[in-house]
Amino acid sequence: MEGRVSGPPSHPPAVAIRPAIRADLDALMALEAAAFATDRAERRAIRHAIASASISLLVALDDAVLVGAATIERRRGSRRARLSSIAVAPSRAGTGLGRVLLAAAEAEARARGCDALRLEVREDNGAGIRLYERSGYRRFETVPDYYEDGTTAWRYEKPLAAGEGSGPVPS
Ligand SMILES: CC(C)(COP(=O)(O)OP(=O)(O)OC[C@H]1O[C@@H](n2cnc3c(N)ncnc32)[C@H](O)[C@@H]1OP(=O)(O)O)[C@@H](O)C(=O)NCCC(=O)NCCS
Repeated sequence: MEGRVSGPPSHPPAVAIRPAIRADLDALMALEAAAFATDRAERRAIRHAIASASISLLVALDDAVLVGAATIERRRGSRRARLSSIAVAPSRAGTGLGRVLLAAAEAEARARGCDALRLEVREDNGAGIRLYERSGYRRFETVPDYYEDGTTAWRYEKPLAAGEGSGPVPS
């Protein structure tokens, strides 16, 4: 079973969102290579994320083609989840898919009992920063030399309102 999430009214990409499975590994590696120039996740880390009980790796599919992914990590004893990665296929960038995936990640975090979502973004990542700020995230910290190439990270947080969302993305 798959959860469907609609995008903003002006661009509603019709994608299916579901948790990643092992068979998605190759497509997830390809997405990672296409979307990120540095700090790419290794295959082993992606495989771990798929199997981990404390990590939700959601994938967006358009007609069975993997076009995006988001990774949400939780820690025992914390109600703050962390969006450790979000990416859309370059061919779909700017179509609203990032917003759809981010909304799905927030719904997933809420459904798992979290009341806030945090993330880091490169200070030179215009698309990411715009997506987060337009989605209600507030910058609370700057971390110099955070990324492999020395770039500064901006840290953001958004409180997740209770009662929104429709339960965890079904496996
Ligand atoms: C960041 C990312 C997920 C955004 O996804 P997306 O599908 O392009 O996002 P959306 O189409 O929902 O657009 C979000 C906003 O960013 C804007 N945007 C898109 N591409 C942009 C760009 N290259 N520069 C500046 N803004 C951009 C959009 O106009 C939109 O703003 P709006 O809501 O005011 O119109 C995507 O660009 C991506 O995968 N980038 C590579 C991986 C990455 O950097 N991930 C984030 C790491 S923290």
